[in-house]
Amino acid sequence: GVVRHYEFTVSRGVIAPDGYVRDVLLVNGAFPGPLIEANWGDTVVVDVHNDITGPEEGTGIHWHGFLQHETPWEDGAPGISQCPIPPRRSYRYEFIASLYGTSWYHSHYSAQFSGGLLGPIVVHGPTSENYDVDLGPILLTDWYHKEYFDIVEEMLSPNGNLAVASDNNLINGKMHFNCSAVAPGDTTPCVNNAGISKFRFQTGKTHRLRLANAGANGVQRFSIDEHTLTVIAEDFVPVKPYNTSVVTLGVGQRADVLVTANAGGPSSAFWMRSNLTGCSVARQPHALAAVYYDQANTSTTPSSTAWDIPDPSTCANEDLDITEPLFPIPLPEATLTQTMDIETFTNASNITLWKFNGVSMRTDYNHPVILLANDGNFSYPAQWNVVNYQSHKAIRIIVNNRGIGSHPMHLHGHNFYVLHEGPGAWDGTIVRPSNPLRRDVYLVRGNGHLVIQFDGQPGVWAFHCHVAWHASGGFVASLIVEPEKVERMHIPRDVEKNCRAWGMWSRYNV
Ligand code: C2O
Repeated sequence: GVVRHYEFTVSRGVIAPDGYVRDVLLVNGAFPGPLIEANWGDTVVVDVHNDITGPEEGTGIHWHGFLQHETPWEDGAPGISQCPIPPRRSYRYEFIASLYGTSWYHSHYSAQFSGGLLGPIVVHGPTSENYDVDLGPILLTDWYHKEYFDIVEEMLSPNGNLAVASDNNLINGKMHFNCSAVAPGDTTPCVNNAGISKFRFQTGKTHRLRLANAGANGVQRFSIDEHTLTVIAEDFVPVKPYNTSVVTLGVGQRADVLVTANAGGPSSAFWMRSNLTGCSVARQPHALAAVYYDQANTSTTPSSTAWDIPDPSTCANEDLDITEPLFPIPLPEATLTQTMDIETFTNASNITLWKFNGVSMRTDYNHPVILLANDGNFSYPAQWNVVNYQSHKAIRIIVNNRGIGSHPMHLHGHNFYVLHEGPGAWDGTIVRPSNPLRRDVYLVRGNGHLVIQFDGQPGVWAFHCHVAWHASGGFVASLIVEPEKVERMHIPRDVEKNCRAWGMWSRYNV
């Protein structure tokens, strides 16, 4: 493979993607950030310069869905796989694009990604896929008019509210906002009709759309009026094509869909929609973009009508029977089964937090778990929520959701097998053990269960809810796989160097 080299400068900025002006975090001045594009097998090198000042903040970029095989220290999760990159410092990430399809990168420091620090990734695979036009990434993001840090602070204060409401919903960083909905007394500049994203379809041709839910919280339901979507990949896993009018995506999930422009003549126009389901608190849940056929005037407003798509009551993904990986892998025998519960609790200071597997995780940015494990230190403070799987490599986790909300469960470094998901407790059945679905994020419904299994690879891997506000509230665990191999890993000196720089900065600034 070839080396794909990118320079990312992360900084504060002021933008108004929906007309309402707010402070954000940007990559190279852009929201969404620049596209990372590679071919299957290429090496991706990204020099990240932390220019976040006024006030300064650390950062760390996670390459969502990448396996980081033999490079777990490049996974970008501060406190787990590295120290944060201190302000005015740089860190070079280097890893292999060992899977192909659609993904995204995002900050893994606090809830920074919900403040704009994210962008798309496309890894081109074998050209056997059957389509004419690659329309590129389509990022779906619920959007907040407050700064991310203010939201986290508010939520994690005494009597704070864990259900944070979003203000708008964007497609590739655009959507209108009705400025009269701004709270009375809010004098923030706001303009109506800020503009929407526009796409061009070639009549009769088949287009590939690379969908990703890159939002902070809500479950998205994506559709295009009068067009059938053919799903060909979910997360980084190619699936046997299936047709649908709507695709459900929890935070972090992706779907590659094919759409044939056969619903009208060369001057037709249609709405592309993404709706936040009722399971999240959203003040304006409906995102719109416009799709124009060849000769359609892009200043016209589509007049198409939406599919009749009922809002699901469960906030779960599509039925597990529907999607089947294109390249079958039979489920191996598990050597270890663990149960992890999702709960909330209120602490002595009256702050409500999440508990995952009995612990509300507090990250120690100064002591990333992987560096300690590399030093042969395997005793960690309980609040780091570290699970050491020793030499087990076929690990099954039963997640029991004790609350009413759904959660997008994400495991770093793996495509896990999805064995079962449903209401109440697991009855022990496995959906299609000869070829179970594999993904890197899957929704567990409220008062339900999710059973996953993974072929563990050596490293320290975050397993967490991808809702920004939930992860910030402690809903994270660190899983150590094959510690004796982690101990023998040759972690580059830059990782240590970055930690020393962070230690120095944080001594005077945190
Ligand atoms: Cu997409 Cu732990 O992240």
